[in-house]
Amino acid sequence: MESNDITVESPTYVHEVEETDYREENILLKIKLAEMRNELMRYKIPPLLVAEVIDTYPQNRCMVRLKNGNEFYVNVDASLDKKLKSADEVLVEQKSLTVIQKLGKKKHFDVSKYVIVEKPNIKWSQIGGLKKEIEELKEVIELPLQKPELFKKIGIEPPKGILLYGHPGTGKTLLAKAAATSTNATFIEIVGSELVQKFIGQGAKLVKSIFEMAREKAPAIIFIDEIDSIAATRMDVGTSGEREVQRTFMQLLAEIDGFEPLGNVKLIAATNRIDILDTAITRPGRFDRLVFIPTPDHKGIVDILKIHTKNMKLAEDVNLDKISKKMKGMSGAEIRAVCIETGYFAIREDRFIVTDKDFNKAVAKIAVEEIERKKDLSYMG
Ligand SMILES: Nc1ncnc2c1ncn2[C@@H]1O[C@H](COP(=O)(O)OP(=O)(O)OP(=O)(O)O)[C@@H](O)[C@H]1O
Ligand SMILES: [Mg+2]
Repeated sequence: MESNDITVESPTYVHEVEETDYREENILLKIKLAEMRNELMRYKIPPLLVAEVIDTYPQNRCMVRLKNGNEFYVNVDASLDKKLKSADEVLVEQKSLTVIQKLGKKKHFDVSKYVIVEKPNIKWSQIGGLKKEIEELKEVIELPLQKPELFKKIGIEPPKGILLYGHPGTGKTLLAKAAATSTNATFIEIVGSELVQKFIGQGAKLVKSIFEMAREKAPAIIFIDEIDSIAATRMDVGTSGEREVQRTFMQLLAEIDGFEPLGNVKLIAATNRIDILDTAITRPGRFDRLVFIPTPDHKGIVDILKIHTKNMKLAEDVNLDKISKKMKGMSGAEIRAVCIETGYFAIREDRFIVTDKDFNKAVAKIAVEEIERKKDLSYMG
């Protein structure tokens, strides 16, 4: 009997242990199942859109702008009551665009990824002709950066910036870089058309950050090339793209108005289209010094030829003065192109010395190319 007792007791004990094991396993499996269901749910939720808060309104409403530039008046989740302010980055639900989450403050918007920042090395002596124009730049950019106390003593404020206008290839960018070199300033270059095309929805923010960066890296020169693409007179601002350009432009004006004329940030802008510029940009206190950059005259052409042939070996028959007479109307960039072509004519004949004939062929070639290019442009309207 005793042995029987034992055989009956033993399985009961084993069963109990097994039952607890299974129960525990069951619980674990249930937890796992819940986790997997959750995970599955997360995959099923449509993605949230990223938007920027433009303005907040009472009763949990706000205006947001999506990345494509469209703006909407939407609801805000109750958990975010009074927690939003303009310029916050938020996540919105796809269908109703209800704001459901605020994104953490982004790390400093890294503008250096979007603009060219450099310490150029262009000396005034590398610019041919343009004596008067160089003097203007020295007065407006160089002098205030180097001797601000002079202006304080006399009691005047120098212009905040200078606008260079003229045909392509006449040396506008070159002048701006030379001004940065002579003042050892950081040169921050932005191209108007890129600001508009590449950074859709970001233009205004980028402008703001660029001015911030300039102050950090001062002395600095902000060079805005093709300023006409953000500062052209507009009849209407109907499309969201036009509104975006308008916003970028407004931000630029605000930044210009906000900085000190005697601070160590200066502005240089360039354009080929002074005719379409909005007068708001040329108003006193903004870009009030407008400087026309002409194509070089006879002496200018000789100067530029000298600069670009400095490292070339010229044959005795080469007379730069004579050659320059055949180059009337050419821009600095074209004159440089002539020098390079001249070198190629010599290379093709295995020579290191360039001759008068090489120059003549090169002048003819560049002149023809220029005519073709203008024809192409006129076909394009
Ligand atoms: N006055 C000049 N002296 C010496 N080189 C010049 C001069 N003007 C132009 N060049 C040469 O032509 C190149 C192009 O000039 P630059 O980029 O300054 O023209 P730009 O006026 O800015 O033209 P764009 O309006 O097309 O931007 C220069 O890098 C330089 O090699
Ligand atoms: Mg240029």
